[in-house]
Amino acid sequence: FRVSVILVAAGSGTRMGGVPKQFLHLGSMTVVEHSIHTFAQIPSVAEIIVVTKEEEISRMKSLLDEYNEVIPIKVTAGGSTRQESVARGVEACGQEITHVAIHDAARPLVRRKDVEHVFADALEYRAATLGIVSKDTIKVVHHGIIDETPQRSTLYLTQTPQVFEIVLYRRAMKFAALHEFDFTDDCQLVEAIGVPVHMTPGDYRNMKLTTPEDIAVAQALLEEEER
Ligand code: CTP
Ligand code: MG
Repeated sequence: FRVSVILVAAGSGTRMGGVPKQFLHLGSMTVVEHSIHTFAQIPSVAEIIVVTKEEEISRMKSLLDEYNEVIPIKVTAGGSTRQESVARGVEACGQEITHVAIHDAARPLVRRKDVEHVFADALEYRAATLGIVSKDTIKVVHHGIIDETPQRSTLYLTQTPQVFEIVLYRRAMKFAALHEFDFTDDCQLVEAIGVPVHMTPGDYRNMKLTTPEDIAVAQALLEEEER
Protein backbone atom coordinates (compact mmCIF):
# COMPACT_ATOMS: atom_id res chain seq x y z
CA PHE A 1 0.00 0.00 0.00
CA ARG A 2 1.89 3.03 -1.30
CA VAL A 3 -0.02 6.25 -1.67
CA SER A 4 0.65 9.27 -3.80
CA VAL A 5 -1.11 12.32 -2.38
CA ILE A 6 -2.33 14.73 -5.03
CA LEU A 7 -2.83 18.09 -3.40
CA VAL A 8 -4.87 20.25 -5.77
CA ALA A 9 -4.00 23.91 -5.35
CA ALA A 10 -4.46 25.39 -8.80
CA GLY A 11 -7.77 27.17 -8.24
CA SER A 12 -8.44 30.91 -8.48
CA GLY A 13 -10.51 31.37 -5.32
CA THR A 14 -13.28 33.18 -7.19
CA ARG A 15 -15.77 32.76 -4.34
CA MET A 16 -13.11 33.98 -1.88
CA GLY A 17 -12.97 37.24 -3.83
CA GLY A 18 -10.21 36.23 -6.24
CA VAL A 19 -7.70 35.20 -3.56
CA PRO A 20 -5.62 32.04 -4.23
CA LYS A 21 -6.53 30.24 -1.00
CA GLN A 22 -3.47 27.97 -0.96
CA PHE A 23 -1.16 30.87 -0.03
CA LEU A 24 -3.34 32.44 2.68
CA HIS A 25 -1.86 32.39 6.17
CA LEU A 26 -3.73 30.35 8.73
CA GLY A 27 -2.17 30.23 12.19
CA SER A 28 1.59 29.71 11.92
CA MET A 29 1.74 28.67 8.23
CA THR A 30 0.11 28.91 4.82
CA VAL A 31 -3.00 26.94 3.97
CA VAL A 32 -1.17 24.48 1.67
CA GLU A 33 1.47 23.71 4.32
CA HIS A 34 -1.14 22.46 6.81
CA SER A 35 -2.03 19.50 4.56
CA ILE A 36 1.66 18.78 3.86
CA HIS A 37 2.28 18.52 7.62
CA THR A 38 -0.59 16.09 8.11
CA PHE A 39 0.12 13.77 5.16
CA ALA A 40 3.87 13.72 5.80
CA GLN A 41 3.21 11.98 9.15
CA ILE A 42 1.58 8.96 7.53
CA PRO A 43 3.98 6.11 6.70
CA SER A 44 2.07 4.83 3.62
CA VAL A 45 2.42 8.21 1.91
CA ALA A 46 5.26 7.81 -0.60
CA GLU A 47 5.12 11.28 -2.16
CA ILE A 48 3.07 14.46 -2.32
CA ILE A 49 2.28 16.02 -5.69
CA VAL A 50 1.25 19.63 -5.40
CA VAL A 51 -0.69 20.85 -8.42
CA THR A 52 -0.61 24.60 -8.79
CA LYS A 53 -1.01 27.30 -11.42
CA GLU A 54 1.82 27.40 -13.95
CA GLU A 55 2.79 30.95 -12.91
CA GLU A 56 2.89 29.98 -9.22
CA ILE A 57 5.16 26.94 -9.60
CA SER A 58 8.38 28.66 -8.51
CA ARG A 59 6.67 30.37 -5.55
CA MET A 60 5.19 27.03 -4.47
CA LYS A 61 8.53 25.23 -4.89
CA SER A 62 10.40 27.67 -2.69
CA LEU A 63 7.64 27.64 -0.07
CA LEU A 64 7.71 23.83 0.15
CA ASP A 65 11.43 23.21 -0.39
CA GLU A 66 12.17 22.50 3.29
CA TYR A 67 9.56 19.71 3.42
CA ASN A 68 11.53 17.66 0.88
CA GLU A 69 13.69 16.51 3.78
CA VAL A 70 10.67 14.79 5.29
CA ILE A 71 8.72 13.63 2.21
CA PRO A 72 9.37 13.74 -1.56
CA ILE A 73 7.40 16.66 -2.99
CA LYS A 74 6.74 17.30 -6.67
CA VAL A 75 5.18 20.52 -7.92
CA THR A 76 3.34 20.42 -11.21
CA ALA A 77 1.09 22.68 -13.29
CA GLY A 78 -2.70 22.42 -13.04
CA GLY A 79 -5.42 22.99 -15.60
CA SER A 80 -8.41 25.27 -15.99
CA THR A 81 -10.82 22.88 -14.24
CA ARG A 82 -10.35 20.90 -11.05
CA GLN A 83 -10.71 17.63 -12.96
CA GLU A 84 -7.89 18.67 -15.31
CA SER A 85 -5.69 19.60 -12.36
CA VAL A 86 -6.25 16.18 -10.80
CA ALA A 87 -5.38 14.52 -14.14
CA ARG A 88 -2.06 16.42 -14.27
CA GLY A 89 -1.32 15.22 -10.76
CA VAL A 90 -2.06 11.60 -11.65
CA GLU A 91 0.29 11.88 -14.66
CA ALA A 92 3.08 12.92 -12.30
CA CYS A 93 2.65 9.90 -9.98
CA GLY A 94 5.69 7.73 -9.40
CA GLN A 95 6.04 4.10 -10.49
CA GLU A 96 5.44 1.88 -7.45
CA ILE A 97 2.29 3.69 -6.36
CA THR A 98 -0.79 1.56 -5.58
CA HIS A 99 -3.28 4.29 -4.61
CA VAL A 100 -3.91 7.99 -5.18
CA ALA A 101 -5.32 10.22 -2.44
CA ILE A 102 -6.75 13.38 -3.92
CA HIS A 103 -7.02 16.25 -1.46
CA ASP A 104 -8.14 19.87 -1.76
CA ALA A 105 -5.41 22.20 -0.54
CA ALA A 106 -8.40 24.33 0.52
CA ARG A 107 -9.09 21.79 3.34
CA PRO A 108 -6.17 22.56 5.66
CA LEU A 109 -7.79 21.16 8.83
CA VAL A 110 -8.03 17.49 7.86
CA ARG A 111 -6.83 15.30 10.72
CA ARG A 112 -4.41 12.42 10.57
CA LYS A 113 -6.90 10.06 12.24
CA ASP A 114 -9.51 10.67 9.52
CA VAL A 115 -6.93 10.32 6.73
CA GLU A 116 -5.91 6.97 8.22
CA HIS A 117 -9.55 5.83 8.30
CA VAL A 118 -10.17 6.65 4.64
CA PHE A 119 -6.84 5.06 3.66
CA ALA A 120 -7.84 1.82 5.42
CA ASP A 121 -11.23 1.85 3.68
CA ALA A 122 -9.63 2.46 0.27
CA LEU A 123 -7.37 -0.53 0.84
CA GLU A 124 -10.39 -2.68 1.68
CA TYR A 125 -12.93 -1.33 -0.85
CA ARG A 126 -10.69 0.07 -3.69
CA ALA A 127 -12.37 3.51 -3.51
CA ALA A 128 -13.29 5.62 -0.49
CA THR A 129 -14.00 9.22 0.44
CA LEU A 130 -14.37 11.16 3.66
CA GLY A 131 -17.77 12.76 4.17
CA ILE A 132 -20.20 13.89 6.85
CA VAL A 133 -23.97 13.58 7.26
CA SER A 134 -25.70 16.84 6.46
CA LYS A 135 -26.81 18.73 9.58
CA ASP A 136 -29.44 20.60 7.61
CA THR A 137 -32.48 19.29 5.80
CA ILE A 138 -31.75 19.55 2.10
CA LYS A 139 -34.42 20.49 -0.44
CA VAL A 140 -34.37 19.86 -4.16
CA VAL A 141 -35.70 23.09 -5.68
CA HIS A 142 -36.83 23.71 -9.24
CA HIS A 143 -37.90 27.18 -10.39
CA GLY A 144 -38.11 28.40 -6.79
CA ILE A 145 -40.43 25.60 -5.65
CA ILE A 146 -39.46 22.64 -3.45
CA ASP A 147 -39.66 19.53 -5.52
CA GLU A 148 -38.37 16.92 -3.10
CA THR A 149 -37.01 16.48 0.44
CA PRO A 150 -34.62 13.51 0.52
CA GLN A 151 -34.26 11.76 3.88
CA ARG A 152 -31.55 13.66 5.76
CA SER A 153 -29.74 10.57 7.09
CA THR A 154 -28.93 9.50 3.51
CA LEU A 155 -27.39 12.86 2.57
CA TYR A 156 -23.65 13.17 2.97
CA LEU A 157 -21.48 16.16 2.21
CA THR A 158 -18.36 14.84 0.54
CA GLN A 159 -14.95 15.95 1.65
CA THR A 160 -11.43 15.00 0.69
CA PRO A 161 -9.15 13.07 0.70
CA GLN A 162 -10.78 10.76 -1.82
CA VAL A 163 -8.68 7.65 -2.25
CA PHE A 164 -8.62 5.19 -5.14
CA GLU A 165 -6.59 2.30 -6.49
CA ILE A 166 -4.50 3.99 -9.16
CA VAL A 167 -5.47 1.52 -11.91
CA LEU A 168 -9.13 2.10 -11.12
CA TYR A 169 -8.78 5.87 -11.13
CA ARG A 170 -6.87 5.86 -14.42
CA ARG A 171 -9.68 3.83 -15.99
CA ALA A 172 -12.26 6.30 -14.63
CA MET A 173 -10.23 9.22 -16.03
CA LYS A 174 -10.21 7.68 -19.50
CA PHE A 175 -13.96 7.13 -19.38
CA ALA A 176 -14.57 10.73 -18.22
CA ALA A 177 -12.38 12.08 -21.02
CA LEU A 178 -14.21 9.96 -23.59
CA HIS A 179 -17.60 11.26 -22.45
CA GLU A 180 -16.35 14.82 -21.84
CA PHE A 181 -17.50 14.81 -18.21
CA ASP A 182 -16.36 17.71 -16.05
CA PHE A 183 -16.81 16.88 -12.38
CA THR A 184 -15.68 18.82 -9.31
CA ASP A 185 -15.75 15.60 -7.26
CA ASP A 186 -13.45 12.68 -8.06
CA CYS A 187 -15.81 10.01 -6.76
CA GLN A 188 -18.18 10.93 -9.58
CA LEU A 189 -15.64 9.71 -12.14
CA VAL A 190 -15.47 6.34 -10.39
CA GLU A 191 -19.25 6.20 -9.88
CA ALA A 192 -19.62 6.78 -13.62
CA ILE A 193 -17.83 3.50 -14.40
CA GLY A 194 -20.10 1.66 -11.98
CA VAL A 195 -17.56 0.95 -9.25
CA PRO A 196 -18.90 1.38 -5.67
CA VAL A 197 -17.23 4.10 -3.60
CA HIS A 198 -17.15 3.65 0.16
CA MET A 199 -18.24 6.58 2.36
CA THR A 200 -15.96 6.99 5.37
CA PRO A 201 -17.55 9.15 8.10
CA GLY A 202 -15.23 12.07 8.75
CA ASP A 203 -15.21 15.19 10.89
CA TYR A 204 -17.12 18.47 10.57
CA ARG A 205 -13.85 20.31 11.16
CA ASN A 206 -12.51 19.21 7.77
CA MET A 207 -14.19 22.20 6.17
CA LYS A 208 -13.32 23.69 2.81
CA LEU A 209 -12.26 27.32 2.65
CA THR A 210 -14.65 28.63 0.02
CA THR A 211 -16.09 32.03 0.97
CA PRO A 212 -14.59 34.76 3.21
CA GLU A 213 -16.53 33.82 6.38
CA ASP A 214 -14.94 30.34 6.25
CA ILE A 215 -11.59 31.90 7.21
CA ALA A 216 -12.89 33.07 10.59
CA VAL A 217 -14.35 29.64 11.30
CA ALA A 218 -11.11 27.86 10.31
CA GLN A 219 -9.05 30.21 12.47
CA ALA A 220 -11.29 29.54 15.48
CA LEU A 221 -11.09 25.77 14.94
CA LEU A 222 -7.31 25.91 14.68
CA GLU A 223 -7.01 27.92 17.91
CA GLU A 224 -9.26 25.43 19.69
CA GLU A 225 -7.03 22.60 18.47
CA GLU A 226 -3.84 24.32 19.62
CA ARG A 227 -5.19 24.90 23.12
N1 CTP B 1 -8.51 23.47 -7.98
C1 CTP B 1 -7.47 23.15 -8.84
N2 CTP B 1 -7.55 23.50 -10.17
C2 CTP B 1 -8.63 24.14 -10.66
C3 CTP B 1 -9.71 24.45 -9.79
C4 CTP B 1 -9.62 24.09 -8.45
O1 CTP B 1 -6.47 22.58 -8.42
N3 CTP B 1 -8.66 24.47 -11.94
C5 CTP B 1 -8.39 23.16 -6.54
C6 CTP B 1 -8.42 24.39 -5.64
O2 CTP B 1 -7.14 24.99 -5.57
C7 CTP B 1 -8.92 23.85 -4.33
C8 CTP B 1 -9.74 22.61 -4.72
O3 CTP B 1 -9.48 22.38 -6.11
O4 CTP B 1 -7.89 23.44 -3.45
C9 CTP B 1 -11.22 22.82 -4.47
O5 CTP B 1 -11.71 23.81 -5.35
P1 CTP B 1 -12.47 25.13 -4.91
O6 CTP B 1 -12.74 25.15 -3.45
O7 CTP B 1 -13.58 25.33 -5.87
O8 CTP B 1 -11.31 26.25 -5.13
P2 CTP B 1 -11.23 27.33 -6.28
O9 CTP B 1 -11.58 26.72 -7.58
O10 CTP B 1 -9.91 28.00 -6.14
O11 CTP B 1 -12.36 28.38 -5.82
P3 CTP B 1 -13.55 28.97 -6.72
O12 CTP B 1 -14.34 27.80 -7.27
O13 CTP B 1 -14.33 29.83 -5.78
O14 CTP B 1 -12.86 29.76 -7.81
MG1 MG C 1 -13.59 25.91 -7.94
